[in-house]
Amino acid sequence: MTPESSAAKVLQDAASLAGLDAKLTAFPREGSLAARLSTHPFIMAPMAGVSDSAYRMMARAGGASLAYSEMVSVAGLHYGGAKTWELVVPHEPEPDVAVQLFGANPEQFEEAAALVTERLGDRLALIDINMACPVPKVTRKGEGSALLEDPKRAADIVGACVGHTEVPVTVKIRSARRTGDPEVAADFARAMEQAGASAVAVHGRTASQMYRGEADWGVVSRVVDAVDIPVIGSGDVKSAADAARMLESTGATAVMIARGSYGNPWIFGNAQRIHAGERAVEPSVSLRLAAFCCHVRLLEATQAHMAKARSLSGWYLRGVPNAAQWRERAMHCKTVDEYLELAQTLDGLYGDGL
Ligand SMILES: Cc1cc2nc3c(=O)[nH]c(=O)nc-3n(C[C@H](O)[C@H](O)[C@H](O)COP(=O)(O)O)c2cc1C
Repeated sequence: MTPESSAAKVLQDAASLAGLDAKLTAFPREGSLAARLSTHPFIMAPMAGVSDSAYRMMARAGGASLAYSEMVSVAGLHYGGAKTWELVVPHEPEPDVAVQLFGANPEQFEEAAALVTERLGDRLALIDINMACPVPKVTRKGEGSALLEDPKRAADIVGACVGHTEVPVTVKIRSARRTGDPEVAADFARAMEQAGASAVAVHGRTASQMYRGEADWGVVSRVVDAVDIPVIGSGDVKSAADAARMLESTGATAVMIARGSYGNPWIFGNAQRIHAGERAVEPSVSLRLAAFCCHVRLLEATQAHMAKARSLSGWYLRGVPNAAQWRERAMHCKTVDEYLELAQTLDGLYGDGL
């Protein structure tokens, strides 16, 4: 059995037991990006160290209409590192992926956009450019959120990508570089629109806030007012109800769910239900444990490092009685079978058979 077919088999065997969809649906390919996002508005955010192929498949199985790769260095793609390509290429049966690139050199973006377009073919849904990352290792080189202070270079980067791919090119920004600085998001987004961006994702925090403090959804609304391209809101979407509320209150076309999806792949389908005026379906302990098993098996099927299952156990075991003690137990698991056995023990103790 190839590793690819085994990821498909894991979903076939395990997704429905977790109340998830074993069949992953592609992001619509026909129509404008605005129309496609507005009918499919709940998407999974890029998260470095988290949004690998297994994580994205879980999100898609839970109802995410699209999922982003971790941010990928254009310099890394230039040097052709296998590890960098691993971040980009989806595993079967992942239908498609939004690839997020970071860097500062327009020529490297040109090359990266062309390479990713050629290598992924119709599995590439869009290319997003990271202009939001606050990490000093990145911003020191003029990459990520440093581009908020260099709109000319940022526009050149957008233009470089647009000229070398057929898929939509989008950007992800923050409200400003530093807290206390004037907000740049609306003017900056307008400049990116003029440079050819097809959508802009707005994380309502300054870069210096990193991931702390409250996100300001007002900045999402202000960008909506400033541009004609679709706006994707991000920041403090902790629940399905938050996602539906952000969509309605900001006028954004779509909403990105990031940390709210930790151990909660159902959040996407529930956001859609609430948005449609239906009731959300809360997962039982047994469903959570079944999802944990499915996710761990997908890690194995995609040859991801098993150490990643540790953070997963922290997330999926929320709500299990004596969670701290069981998480501690999970820290000692090494193999897939050990994780599956732990889940079975927990299901026997606390599960509801659902
Ligand atoms: C662990 C982690 C990694 C992240 N990595 C990226 C990234 O690679 N690219 C990006 O644009 N944003 C990244 N983000 C930001 C998220 O996409 C999102 O905008 C942010 O977390 C705000 O949403 P939240 O408050 O609902 O989590 C990351 C966030 C987290 C928590």
